[in-house]
Amino acid sequence: IPIERLAQQVKGMSLDALAEKYPNCHPAVNPFDLYRAHLSNVLADVTGVDPKIIYPSLQWTTSLDKGDMVLATPALRVKGQKPDELAKQWVEKFPGNDPLFEKPTVVSYFMAFVFRTTPLIQAVIPMIQHYGPEYGRNKCLGLKDPKDPSKGKKRMIVEFSSPNIAKPFHAGHLRSTIIGGFLANLYDGAGWDVKRINYLGDWGKQYGLLALAYEKYGDEEALTNDPINHLFQLYVRINSEMSAEKEQIEKRKQDGEDVTALEADSLDEQARRYFRSMTDRDPAALARWKRFRDLSITRYQATYARLNIHFDEYSGESQVPEAAMAKVSQEMEAKGICKEDKGAQIVDFSELVPGKEGKRLEKPIVRKRDGTALYLTRDISELLGRHEKYEFDHMIYVVASAQDLHLKQLFKIIELLGHKEIAAKCQHINFGLVLGMSTRKGTVKFLDDILRDVADKMHETMKKNETKYSQVENPSATADTLGISSVMVQDMSGKRINNYTFNMDAMTSFEGDTGPYLQYAHARVFSIRRKANLTDEDLATADLSLLTEPHAINIVRLIAQWPDTVQNTLRTLEPTTVLTYLFKMTHALSSSYDQLQVVGSERELMKARMALYDAAHTVLGNGMRLLGLSPVER
Ligand code: ARG
Repeated sequence: IPIERLAQQVKGMSLDALAEKYPNCHPAVNPFDLYRAHLSNVLADVTGVDPKIIYPSLQWTTSLDKGDMVLATPALRVKGQKPDELAKQWVEKFPGNDPLFEKPTVVSYFMAFVFRTTPLIQAVIPMIQHYGPEYGRNKCLGLKDPKDPSKGKKRMIVEFSSPNIAKPFHAGHLRSTIIGGFLANLYDGAGWDVKRINYLGDWGKQYGLLALAYEKYGDEEALTNDPINHLFQLYVRINSEMSAEKEQIEKRKQDGEDVTALEADSLDEQARRYFRSMTDRDPAALARWKRFRDLSITRYQATYARLNIHFDEYSGESQVPEAAMAKVSQEMEAKGICKEDKGAQIVDFSELVPGKEGKRLEKPIVRKRDGTALYLTRDISELLGRHEKYEFDHMIYVVASAQDLHLKQLFKIIELLGHKEIAAKCQHINFGLVLGMSTRKGTVKFLDDILRDVADKMHETMKKNETKYSQVENPSATADTLGISSVMVQDMSGKRINNYTFNMDAMTSFEGDTGPYLQYAHARVFSIRRKANLTDEDLATADLSLLTEPHAINIVRLIAQWPDTVQNTLRTLEPTTVLTYLFKMTHALSSSYDQLQVVGSERELMKARMALYDAAHTVLGNGMRLLGLSPVER
């Protein structure tokens, strides 16, 4: 483990002992943990405070000019002295010959710490060479017992994307897909056993209506070629017919006509009957519906693959067994959780949950008068079913904040059913709206349409530079990747809960903190390696003591932060935590190119600088892949 070289600089320090002493300290994979642990040991002597209080009080700085770590002295809760006085005293007492830290400085009541550069560079670059794509991951976090890997991993369910068959894949599904894919990667990198579930909207009377539409106007060839669009067109057509028919019936009714026969034969009624045959498991009806579903899934899978996403399970509303729902309903009745209201079954939370919370949870219906189950009913059974099937330790639902209430109701019902410990494992990860999303080719926003439009736009931009364009091997594939990066980076730029405006021009620009810019930065740092023509062996044996310029040192300080950034992301669960870091990196890189030339420098210096850029390239790529992007090399 290369970081051991760093530990060896400190008398009596061992990685195992540090990991043992501080909770959540993993110096073998996270250089910051080593620095934090060592600093806590030193500061314990300086301040007389318990090092276990110091360790979690050491904070990040917002930028490198403020140091690598800071301590706000009030965090140590030393009574009787002014915080800025304490800061001054402690800085004075801090040993001037510490092997890992420079003498700290005082900024009001903060102590600012800077890593000594030589040992940092000597440890971090080899560490990145050693771990490669694993640098930043910490596989022991997800272990059931960190001391005994044989006990296995904790299991995480991430439910995300969850579009509705025959309906547009709208912005909410897009965001769920992007955020969910990212969260699944994040936990995977932290060593959890992650299962990705897509809970399709694929059940209900509207699918009876769709089947009717297919009987009337379906086209076998169109269905196989483009199931998503064909089904959607049928769906739109039959719905407008149904509305027109409803209007007609209503009009005649007003005119005093007897409409009983008309109603009994209406599309609405036919759809109801068709759906009934589906719930009664009529083989022909089920087979047709299954075909629609399977064809749609095949098509979705192709789109998800473009986004580097796969699912372990395509679940969905249709997959929730009626028997399981009947059982839960009985239990809810027996426990007094639901009650009858005008023939339907409702949950009146104001009677079940005291105070404001009960009112806020409202009165959802769980069974309609005709006995059909609803969205909420299905979610209750599905959740319990998943717990039985997967025995998960944690489950995340990535669903728009428009469904905040729905998920609160769901988790509360699970709790009221007596499964407090299961409810406690469930978490809703929500997100805001995308405003102003429309495509050039029409108003329907299928994901494929959006991705195609953005890719077209990227392709146009690429063509503007003829020389560079001619060097790209497969321009349309690159345009596609850049288009996807544009959409994803724009989505991940702000906090999840914020709304944002879909802006094609802004997201596809190579200027500003955009997807194309990030890709450009990655390709550029990679291109140096191509031109330098050095081997891995050259880089592994480079004399890193030649890296002395401030630009080089700052890049190393940044790449040293990467594993800690991932740690922090496990707390925020925000893609923007990663993205902000990556843009800091790209800015540091772009300002260094003129200062730290590789090609044209003397050979040893060339090797050392290349080792630096190569490490930065690894970190950028790791970060991009964590977000679900495919880094391009040209
Ligand atoms: N299909 C739903 C929709 O489009 C989202 C499903 C969310 N997940 C859930 N378990 N309810 O609104």
